Amino acid sequence: MKVGVIGAGRLGICFALLLEKAGYEVVASDVREDYIKSLQERSISTNEPEVQQLLSESKNIAFKTGNFDVIKECDILYTLVATPSLSDGSYDVSAVWGVINDIQNAINLGIDVKGKSFIVGCTTNPGDCELFQKQLQPYGVDVFYNPSQTNPGGLYYGRFSPTLNLVDLFEDYSDNGQGRSVPLVTRLDGNENDVVANPVNFDVNKPYKQYDNLSDIFAGKTQDYMLA
Ligand SMILES: NC(=O)c1ccc[n+]([C@@H]2O[C@H](COP(=O)([O-])OP(=O)(O)OC[C@H]3O[C@@H](n4cnc5c(N)ncnc54)[C@H](O)[C@@H]3O)[C@@H](O)[C@H]2O)c1
Repeated sequence: MKVGVIGAGRLGICFALLLEKAGYEVVASDVREDYIKSLQERSISTNEPEVQQLLSESKNIAFKTGNFDVIKECDILYTLVATPSLSDGSYDVSAVWGVINDIQNAINLGIDVKGKSFIVGCTTNPGDCELFQKQLQPYGVDVFYNPSQTNPGGLYYGRFSPTLNLVDLFEDYSDNGQGRSVPLVTRLDGNENDVVANPVNFDVNKPYKQYDNLSDIFAGKTQDYMLA
C-alpha cells in the first residue's frame, strides 16, 4: 500500500516524512517544480525542526511534480494544498478543486480510482467536503475530512509510530438522522468526539480502537459499501 500526499508545503512535507519514517511507502507531489527538484535532491529550506534530517534519511518516499503519479499509484490520497483565507472570512478552496480536477483527468486517461480514499487535510468551508464527495463518489472515491490522529503517548505528534489510532473520522455516506454524517466507530466507549471537543484533556488511557495500518480504517468503505 502506498500513501500519497498532495501538496508538500509546510504541513504536507512534514506529514509525508513522518509517514515515511513510520514505515509507509509514500509519494508526495506539489505544483512547484523547483521545490520538488530540491526535495528529490533531499534538500529543503525550512526552520521546522528535524525536517531536513528526516528528508536526508528518507528512502521510501518519491517526490513528483504534478499529481498524476500520486493519483495513479497510491491507495490513500491525502491532500494538504493551500486554502488561504479570503477577506470575507471564507477559505479559497480552489486548489482542492484543482486536485479533484486532476483526479478526473486521471480517470479520463484510464486510471482506475475505485476504492481509493481522498482525505482532505486542508482547512475548508462548511459544506465543501460534501461537494467534493458528490464530485468523486460516482467514480468510487471515498472522501474523508481531517481525521484526528493520535497514538499512545502523544497527540498529533504520533506519526513516528506505525500504529495510528484514528479517533474521529467522518464520512458522508450515511445520515445520522440530523443531516450530519455518521462517524466511524473508532472508540470503544462511544465518545468519538472527545479529542476534537477537548483535546487538552485528551486521555490516552481511554479505550480507542487501534489500527496498525493506515488503510485498515478505510477497509470496506468502498463504493460498494456506500451503495449497499
Ligand atoms: N501550516 C499549518 O500549521 C496548518 C495548520 C492547520 C491547518 N493548515 C491547513 O493545511 C493546508 C496546507 O497548509 P500549509 O501551511 O502546508 O500550506 P502551504 O502553502 O505551505 O503548502 C501548500 C502547498 O500546496 C501546493 N499546491 C497548491 N496547489 C496545488 C495543487 N493543485 N496540487 C499540488 N500541490 C498544490 C503549494 O505549492 C504548496 O507547496 C491549508 O488548508 C491550511 O489551512 C495548516
